[in-house]
Amino acid sequence: MFDFDKLEQREQRDSAIPVEVSSVEVEEGFGIYAVSDVHTDKRENMDLLRTWPARPRDVLLLAGDVSNDLSVVRTTLELLLERFGHVFFCPGNHDLWLHPKDGCKDSVEKFWKLEGLCQELGVKTQPSYVGKVLIVPLLSWYHSSFDKEPDIQDDTLVPVEKMMSDFMLCKWPPGLTPLAGSDSIATFFDQLNDQRTAAVNQERPAAVISFSHFLPRAELLPEKRFLYFPPIAKAVGSLLLGERVKRLSPDLHVFGHTHYGWSTSLDGTRFLQACLAYPRERSDRPFSVFCKRDGLKQCPPLLVYGHPTGEFPSYDGFWSGYYQEQPKRHDLPWLYQRRDQAPIPPRGLRRGLRKHGPEVEGPERPEGLTIPYR
Ligand SMILES: [Fe+2]
Ligand SMILES: [Fe+2]
Repeated sequence: MFDFDKLEQREQRDSAIPVEVSSVEVEEGFGIYAVSDVHTDKRENMDLLRTWPARPRDVLLLAGDVSNDLSVVRTTLELLLERFGHVFFCPGNHDLWLHPKDGCKDSVEKFWKLEGLCQELGVKTQPSYVGKVLIVPLLSWYHSSFDKEPDIQDDTLVPVEKMMSDFMLCKWPPGLTPLAGSDSIATFFDQLNDQRTAAVNQERPAAVISFSHFLPRAELLPEKRFLYFPPIAKAVGSLLLGERVKRLSPDLHVFGHTHYGWSTSLDGTRFLQACLAYPRERSDRPFSVFCKRDGLKQCPPLLVYGHPTGEFPSYDGFWSGYYQEQPKRHDLPWLYQRRDQAPIPPRGLRRGLRKHGPEVEGPERPEGLTIPYR
């Protein structure tokens, strides 16, 4: 178990404990928008954000994965603060990758530096009332025991630790490790929510919207047979986050990370992903990146709450729509199974299967179906 008292940043943590939930001032008729995975270290994405109209009455929820470069994060947050009346943020995995310029010795220090940047700029990272709506940013990290689905048996697949950049570009202080099935990092971030949400539990407003970068429920990920790199299922979600969302029982929970537009309801909570994703993903597989409304593609940010009607607009996602009609099937083969079963390097595997993936039972396989992780 990670010991908070050994953490150098304890002072920073303690100073962040709120005694009551704060409120932000909003004008009549405000709306709440959501976006995740803006990845503005891609110039095209930053340019896209610059085209977003000013919505000074409105609020934006930014659900992680901006950049590992703090100067890019700063530029992005400043740009969004120019367009929205208030911005809420929680970090994603890319935000905690170390960068030569940030001077951080580990990703926990990077996290606190991000917190400091948000405080400096006036970006909210803790629960606040927006009118009569309670917004709850939730910190999280993934752990492998979130994944309960049987593994794909294929010797071309390498463990997620060998494939995913987080395992190379994040560094963790003693006591925290992403290896050997440890949930220590997920527990660390989940426990930081205790102080942040302590005051929330005393009051229940008319509407609650929470958001996180990672997935709180396994139902929010396609089956492994549809994933380009199935072991990624071990690095997407947190059971601890799931329990926290369950206790909070929000009207809406916004999440990100997987770069799939998603809109569904589970146990009385709406779950939505409004990712911007990478430029190549938007051109290669727009059908699974963007949510739709009334059949029309919706580019983020998505309006998720409209005042004064108190409406939660409904959207359609490619995969979430599929699973509204289809059960999960673990008896069917991996979509990208190679016919000859020859082991090849992951990058070659990606290129090869992009051209030669077999057809299997499931949704019609559109061109360019890829998994977004780098
Ligand atoms: Fe992302
Ligand atoms: Fe992510």
